[in-house]
Amino acid sequence: MSFSASQLFDLSGRVVLVTGGGTGLGKIFTKTYVENGASKVFITGRRIDKLKETADEINSLGHSGVVVPIVGDVASKDGIKDLIRDINAATDTLDILVNNAGILSPVESPRTGASIDELESPEEYATRVAEGNYDGWVDSVKINSIAPYFLTIGLLPLLAAAAKKGEGRGNVIVVTSIAGLSYSTPMPASYQSSKAAAISVTKGLSTRLSPYGVRVNSVAPGIFPTDMSGGLLSEKLKQTIPMQKFGEPEEIAGLVLYLSSKAGSYSHGTNHVIDGGRLLTVPAS
Ligand SMILES: NC(=O)c1ccc[n+]([C@@H]2O[C@H](COP(=O)([O-])OP(=O)(O)OC[C@H]3O[C@@H](n4cnc5c(N)ncnc54)[C@H](OP(=O)(O)O)[C@@H]3O)[C@@H](O)[C@H]2O)c1
Repeated sequence: MSFSASQLFDLSGRVVLVTGGGTGLGKIFTKTYVENGASKVFITGRRIDKLKETADEINSLGHSGVVVPIVGDVASKDGIKDLIRDINAATDTLDILVNNAGILSPVESPRTGASIDELESPEEYATRVAEGNYDGWVDSVKINSIAPYFLTIGLLPLLAAAAKKGEGRGNVIVVTSIAGLSYSTPMPASYQSSKAAAISVTKGLSTRLSPYGVRVNSVAPGIFPTDMSGGLLSEKLKQTIPMQKFGEPEEIAGLVLYLSSKAGSYSHGTNHVIDGGRLLTVPAS
């Protein structure tokens, strides 16, 4: 038995799939896995150029592990089936699956004009929602909450085989959000509700996959600068966070490394909030 960090957090030889691994948080996770010994990290997304750019960048750093781009779209059942087929063709084991791909799709158009801080009339609000983005909400549900369920169970044979080898192998992480636990604007209701569903899906997967030895947890980030959050990053927002700053890459890398390794191997069915205390300040459950 060893309590040294190098043994507890070691990911030597692990095979990983990170959806949305070409950008933002997914790219941080991919780098974290390769830097801690993973032998292969498959990254997926719709844009091959982004995937290749990330793979080339990390592969040029001289680590023993390799990043492998695979184009995939998790917004439909057929897209998920294709991805499952491609992963099965590329590996006979999967130690870690990170369901990270996600979208944030505004519903109603933002309010504009001088009276923006005043309560709008019921008629104005009703009109903005009536003209709002219904299909974007449907896409949010498909990508943020349905895809993790179909993809995880589709890959269960590979995950269950890995779990038999112990040391925390055969584990799944779903990237949810504190938006799934809170009800405040400016986060769109489509995002909040699809992320709340993702938290529920994580717990539902954890009970269903326990008999196979597969662990399932979720990570609920607060605000980390990425393409998705870029439009929200104001000084005013930063001041609402008790730690008075947005999240930094190392601060989420550590949590994902913990959950993926022997160190976190008794964690199962839990939503891990990492938000600098932001949930303390917003209407939340
Ligand atoms: N940044 C934050 O502050 C924050 C906070 C809480 C939660 N999150 C969550 O963290 C995850 C990563 O987001 P991010 O902030 O890193 O933003 P991001 O850079 O926009 O990443 C989203 C990723 O998802 C992929 N994706 C989107 N739709 C897809 C689809 N239909 N099929 C396959 N891949 C798809 C995108 O790749 P393609 O466009 O190439 O497909 C992209 O790589 C998301 O689930 C997000 O909700 C982020």
